[in-house]
Amino acid sequence: MTAAPDPTVLPLDHLALCGRGAAPALVFKDRTLSYEALNRRIGQLASWLAGQVPQAGARVATWLPKSELACLRAALPERLGLHYAMKANPYAPVLRHMAGLVDGFDIASGGELLLAEAADVPAAQISFAGPGKRDADLEAAILRGVTLNLESVREAERALAIGERLGERPRLAIRVNPDFDLKGSGMKMGGGAKPFGVDAAAVPALAKRIIASGAEWRGLHIYAGSQTLDAAAIAEMQAATIALAARLAEESGAPLPACNLGGGFGIPYFPGDLPLDLDVVGAALGEQLAELPEVLCETAFCIELGRYLVGEAGVYLARIVDRKESHGEVFLVTDGGMHHQLAASGNFGTVVRRNYPSAIATRFDAPMEEEASIVGCLCTPLDRLADKGGFPRAGEGDLVAIFCAGAYGASASPVHFLGHGPAAERLVNTNH
Ligand SMILES: Cc1ncc(COP(=O)(O)O)c(C=O)c1O
Repeated sequence: MTAAPDPTVLPLDHLALCGRGAAPALVFKDRTLSYEALNRRIGQLASWLAGQVPQAGARVATWLPKSELACLRAALPERLGLHYAMKANPYAPVLRHMAGLVDGFDIASGGELLLAEAADVPAAQISFAGPGKRDADLEAAILRGVTLNLESVREAERALAIGERLGERPRLAIRVNPDFDLKGSGMKMGGGAKPFGVDAAAVPALAKRIIASGAEWRGLHIYAGSQTLDAAAIAEMQAATIALAARLAEESGAPLPACNLGGGFGIPYFPGDLPLDLDVVGAALGEQLAELPEVLCETAFCIELGRYLVGEAGVYLARIVDRKESHGEVFLVTDGGMHHQLAASGNFGTVVRRNYPSAIATRFDAPMEEEASIVGCLCTPLDRLADKGGFPRAGEGDLVAIFCAGAYGASASPVHFLGHGPAAERLVNTNH
């Protein structure tokens, strides 16, 4: 008799921790990989990486985005474009990898524009949202034909003036500050007073001004929040976004060439988190797009996702340089920490600090033996990668692995603090 399936849904990178020995871990078309073999492969990968990356700390992105994207495409309406918000992971090989998989890139600065350009992302696929664009940023975007998602009336005036001075026709969309937010979102970007976007009530007048100026009108960008696992909340937000876009298009007196519906797709970081139900999101959006009002019939819709595409693909590795006890508690002190992987330390927008999934990468096979905290090498109590987790006994030289580290890692961490140096990054392909 087979055991009843365990109803707990865990991220894919928990797989190696779910069984032991000869039990099947992965069933392929032509063969089965046991937990023992899987752990050996992970161990080989970890030591290959350790050889590749001798310096302190290492963040690694793997092949996973491709499979996530394949799932996404199947679940979401065909008409919907998919954009990558490169703030989640701007590592050049990841950008190059993503360029072949998505329909557009969302950038947030002139610096990200240069990175996207260096990764051969065509300018026509890039849209630029973010407050505080300087004239030099606007000029670079206009010269290249990047779409600007304007964050204020004043920014629109500056963009129009720069376009005129350069003799270029800027491609302009308005980022809307909607009157709603994304329920359950860890990071709300709309609803009420916000530094992001133009208040919905002021959008029709600005749209008319842009259209009358002769600039290329690119429509609306409406981003209400990030990181939710609640499919109903995303469906509700998307429906509200489409209704708002229709109303603003009517009031502006012109159809919308394009409408970015935002994102917000979260990933399960913590025990008890359940992955987002894509089928629910896809079905609801499919219904919405099938019943569009006249003014949106020709509109090109897209969503923009960051962490959903890359977050679960990354593993952060750091080496234990000291094992110590203090008042009966074990501390595994590593050569990495929050200067490489701030988010895992709980200091990047989390209200209650919880442990990211973590393991001793050089001892996947060993049973859990003790409670220990994995800390970094910064002189601050904030620098804690795992707080009182259960691990096999580990010591100097062992590697720790922090999973779900593919988004908001190296580029979102205070790398210069205390001068330990940056994390090395590698894109690993499955042949290794
Ligand atoms: C405008 C915009 N787009 C995309 C994102 C990416 O969010 P996530 O990585 O949660 O998908 C953010 C995050 O703050 C954002 O502000």
